[in-house]
Amino acid sequence: MKPIYITMIIGLLLFSSGCIQPKEAPVVAEKAATEEWKADGILGVSEYSRSMLLQSPARQGYSGGDMEISWRNDPEYLYLALNASTDGWLAIGFEPLEWMKNADIIIASVQSGKAEAQDEYCTGNYGPHLDDTMLGGTNDVKEFAGRKVAGRTVFELKRRLDTGDKFDKSFSPGQAISIIWALSNNPDLSFKHNVAFGEGIITLTGEQTMPPAIKAATLNAHEKEGLSFIWEEEKMARDLYTSLYESDKLTIFRDLARSEQSHMDQARAIIDKYALSIPGNDEQGVFQNQTLQKVHDELLAKGLPSDQDALNAAATFEEISIMDLQEELNITHAQDVMAMYQGLLAGSQKHLRSYVTDLKDRGIKYDPRYLGMDEFEKIVRIK
Ligand code: HEM
Repeated sequence: MKPIYITMIIGLLLFSSGCIQPKEAPVVAEKAATEEWKADGILGVSEYSRSMLLQSPARQGYSGGDMEISWRNDPEYLYLALNASTDGWLAIGFEPLEWMKNADIIIASVQSGKAEAQDEYCTGNYGPHLDDTMLGGTNDVKEFAGRKVAGRTVFELKRRLDTGDKFDKSFSPGQAISIIWALSNNPDLSFKHNVAFGEGIITLTGEQTMPPAIKAATLNAHEKEGLSFIWEEEKMARDLYTSLYESDKLTIFRDLARSEQSHMDQARAIIDKYALSIPGNDEQGVFQNQTLQKVHDELLAKGLPSDQDALNAAATFEEISIMDLQEELNITHAQDVMAMYQGLLAGSQKHLRSYVTDLKDRGIKYDPRYLGMDEFEKIVRIK
């Protein structure tokens, strides 16, 4: 049986208060950035200190693709490179509240050897995202360059950690920043993404240099078990939200069930890559892991009586999911697995925020059951 949070808390489900402090998520790949940073669309071997490959599988409406994010920072600036499998636009968004909402977006494309970029802010769940200057803010992506290389687009930029613009998120060294990313095969920045989209977390360097992360080419038994567990836990979320939507018709459950399917697809892509298999046959509400089966059945029973109960049960599930992902992040050393888990973690944090906000809009305060209060408040930003 896996030594994970969901296993530990099964007996306490919905009754205990959080006391387990998760450890910080590890950085994916790290080296010394000794080369001078230049905006030229060429990624020097030692130009960036950290990098992470984000992948998104093909699915309905999306051809599938990847984006490697490389970054470095000093106390004043963030330097970023995006290297993506697209001929069209590529984008990164910082710290969305939920979905795309309130994300500080940088969207760019390279056409006829010339890079264009916009500093934008997204005001709704799925847009619109407007140029900061149109919202009364300022353009703070002034130094950038891009190139097309073998069917990919490489884009480099520099921006202040704190631009002073209220439509830009302000960062400090050492901070973990949740991100969203998206790709379109169309260079027109107003067209919707159709290649890939996803989530992730990038951690800025602090004052101290951290030791390099270990790269692992193969997975050990714990890592394999973890992958299979996380896929099934994401399935549990999808199935729980689907059943809750069928019962109460709250659109949040329909939207987040779709998002959980996307998380399952992301985990599945890594499972396939390592030639592993998924547990069971993806039957709705049926799980091979009996702990997950029990938690699913209990949360569903708790959630069915009313909209409020449903939102409470869903928020509880997201707390559990966050802790399990943090635990798996501490176990694995494989970069691709870590990047995928970090994307799922950013997604679960957004989902928790969405449920807590929905409850708050109904005049109901959600108290965390498993996460420590500091961690919870940081995630839902209700301080
Ligand atoms: C250019 C115009 C854009 C439009 C019209 C648009 C529209 C949408 C829509 C309708 C969805 C719901 C899922 C779906 O239908 O596939 C979505 C999801 C998403 N979009 Fe966009 N989008 C745009 C740009 C962007 C940009 C620039 C980014 C990244 C910086 C982005 C990141 C995402 C992400 C991460 C999701 C999934 C959110 C979640 O499920 O939590 N989008 N978008």
